[in-house]
Amino acid sequence: MQNEELIKQALIARENSYSPYSNYKVGAALLTKPGKVYLGTNVENCGYSPCNCAERSALFSAISNGERDFEKIAIVGSSNGIAYPCGVCRQVIVELAPNIEIICAKDENNYEVLKINDLLPHAFTPNDIK
Ligand code: THU
Repeated sequence: MQNEELIKQALIARENSYSPYSNYKVGAALLTKPGKVYLGTNVENCGYSPCNCAERSALFSAISNGERDFEKIAIVGSSNGIAYPCGVCRQVIVELAPNIEIICAKDENNYEVLKINDLLPHAFTPNDIK
């Protein structure tokens, strides 16, 4: 699947955002190696700390459905710029999808493709606790 198509899926996921506190909507679309797409959005809570980011929603949904191999993930926010994953999501990506292509996007015409090492150098990984 082309990057632009995956970004369009992330834009669709963003429509489901539950973000009454920040009013910042985020959408993620995760493509597995077998070719299935899992959508995720940010889900907030009046208790604030239980908030979940779009990227983690997508990854946890895919893992919950038995997926383990991931090709790329597109992320869109709702500000004027490109959306980059937060620190917590970077840590989750390095754990669950260390080789994934991360498409940080504003829309289909404005995006950057990065690897987790670009976003989280010298990461703490599962190897570090062996
Ligand atoms: N958010 C994401 O969904 N992904 C990120 O990588 C950055 C932050 C969400 C969390 C919260 O619902 C809102 O954006 C504002 O932080």
